[in-house]
Amino acid sequence: MSIRFDDQVAIVTGAGGGLGRAYALELARRGAKVVVNDLGGEADGTGRSDAAAAVVAEIVAAGGEAMANGGSVADPEQMAAMVDHARERWGGVHILINNAGVLRDKSFAKMTTDDFEFVVRVHLLGSAFVTKACWDLFRAQNYGRVLMTSSSSGLFGNFGQANYGAAKLGIAGLTRTLAIEGAKHDIRVNTIAPTAGTRMTEGLFPADLFDLFAPEKIVPAALFLVSGDAPTNQIVGAGAGVVQSAHITLTPGVALHGDSLSPEGVAAAWDRITDRTAKIVPASGAEQAMLIGRMLMERGAPSAQGS
Ligand code: NAI
Repeated sequence: MSIRFDDQVAIVTGAGGGLGRAYALELARRGAKVVVNDLGGEADGTGRSDAAAAVVAEIVAAGGEAMANGGSVADPEQMAAMVDHARERWGGVHILINNAGVLRDKSFAKMTTDDFEFVVRVHLLGSAFVTKACWDLFRAQNYGRVLMTSSSSGLFGNFGQANYGAAKLGIAGLTRTLAIEGAKHDIRVNTIAPTAGTRMTEGLFPADLFDLFAPEKIVPAALFLVSGDAPTNQIVGAGAGVVQSAHITLTPGVALHGDSLSPEGVAAAWDRITDRTAKIVPASGAEQAMLIGRMLMERGAPSAQGS
């Protein structure tokens, strides 16, 4: 069955170019009314342009419905006004794709605290601000689909991206708690970690790989993750048509006590502590504590030898 978004309103932040534009065009093609948000700056967040209006014009020319918003995701008041405006004009908001982003790469030794704060503000706080502006509405209508944008830099690290990586893993953490809190109102929250040839990756990607890694190749995973039948609480990698599922895992661990509950005991047990053979993916933070409790109970008196 084809996935459609008729009668739904979608907000896509940072949709004046790159991935956001590709999401907005396809959402509109599949029936959604789309708020195209973008302040139209350079990759480092400086400057302004009419990027959002240009994408709206493309959608309208193709027979779709869209409105432009030039607000900054880093400004909670502008984002609240954007959501109010969409609700007044179209009666609701059903889908939010937090996609806006900037880069200020430098090794941590050379990075200023201003550049650290700016990047975290746009990505992490921006994602929280726009989601917060939609949250009461999603709860009241018992429906919401949120797609956040993480990155392999956040999940796995990348040289020169301490600010960006911190924000992007923070976004994965935001996703996990909002998925848990939103569940009873059918608010599903996922995050995508894309790999695509855009202006953000110019210079990183060889030019001849740009077509292979076109933004359009991320669109299927992104649109599935905001559809009615979307899963929730997922971290999904996507690039060049490959779709992956990422997880933060936990080893069963070793129960130390007595003399072994010492730095030396940890050192001695390190290979067993880090043995990932039976790794677990806890469904929530509370599950980690429960696993520790269950392990102690199963073993009776905890034993360093017993793992
Ligand atoms: P892009 O630079 O084409 O898109 C980002 C858009 O966000 C731009 O149009 C920019 O004007 C807009 N923007 C920046 N600050 C904003 C603000 N304060 N308010 C509203 N809009 C703002 O780059 P791309 O690649 O399309 O990036 C989209 C998202 O995907 C970003 O969150 C990025 O970090 C993420 N990402 C991209 C990867 C890639 O391989 N291209 C890899 C991992 C993550």
